[in-house]
Amino acid sequence: MSVLISPSILNADIGDLAGELKKIEGADWAHVDVMDNHFVPNLSWGIPVVEAAKKYSPVPIDAHLMIEDPDRWAPAYIEAGAASATFHAEAVKSPIRLAREIRAMGGRAGLALNPATPIDAYIDILDEFDMVLCMTVEPGFGGQPFLASVMPKVERLRELINKKGLETWIQVDGGISADTIAQAAEAGANNFVAGSAVYKAEDAGEAVENLRLLASQHVHP
Ligand code: DX5
Ligand code: ZN
Repeated sequence: MSVLISPSILNADIGDLAGELKKIEGADWAHVDVMDNHFVPNLSWGIPVVEAAKKYSPVPIDAHLMIEDPDRWAPAYIEAGAASATFHAEAVKSPIRLAREIRAMGGRAGLALNPATPIDAYIDILDEFDMVLCMTVEPGFGGQPFLASVMPKVERLRELINKKGLETWIQVDGGISADTIAQAAEAGANNFVAGSAVYKAEDAGEAVENLRLLASQHVHP
C-alpha cells in the first residue's frame, strides 16, 4: 500500500499561499479544508482559494468539504481544479449520485465520516468511492488531539476493502503527527493529512519526509 502524505494548508500563511505550497513539493497532495460555518462551527475558504491553490500547488488538490449541501456544491470544486473532492456522510443526501457525478467529471470521490459515524451504511457501496476519510478529530479546527478511539473503524474498513479487492484509499485527518501516524498506518490507513505537524514545524519539507518514513514502516503491505 503506498503511503500518501497530504499536508493541510489550514495552518499555513494564507498571505503567501504560493510560498506555503512550494514548501510541500515533497508531499503527494495538498489538502484544502473548506468550512462553511454551518456543517462545522468555523469558516475557512471556498472555490476561489481552491482555484488559487490549483494554480500554485506542485501537487494535486484534495478538497475536504466540511459543508452543508455538498450535493449542490461538490462538483464546483472539481471544476475549480481539485483532483479529489471529499464530502461528509453526515451532510450528503445522495452519496451515490454525487460520487458518480464527481467521477464523471474526472475527479476522485471521497466519503468522510466523523468520529462517531459508523461505516455500516456504506459497506455495500464502497466501490462508489475512491477514498474514505475517517476523521480522527471532530471536524472544524486544526491542532486538536488525535482520537485513537477511531482506530477500530479504520481496521474494520481496511479488512472490508481488502476482502472486496478494492483500491479505495483510507485517509485519516486530525491530530496526525510523528507521535500518532504509526498507529493510524498500523490500523490500515494509507493517506495521512497533517496540518500543524507540517506547517508548525521549522522545516515543512523535513516534517513531510519524517511522516512518510514513519508511516512507511507501519503501513499494511
Ligand atoms: C479539521 C481539518 C483538518 C485539520 C488538520 O477539521 O479537517 O484537515 O486541518 O489539522 P491538524 O493536523 O492540526 O489536526
Ligand atoms: Zn481536513
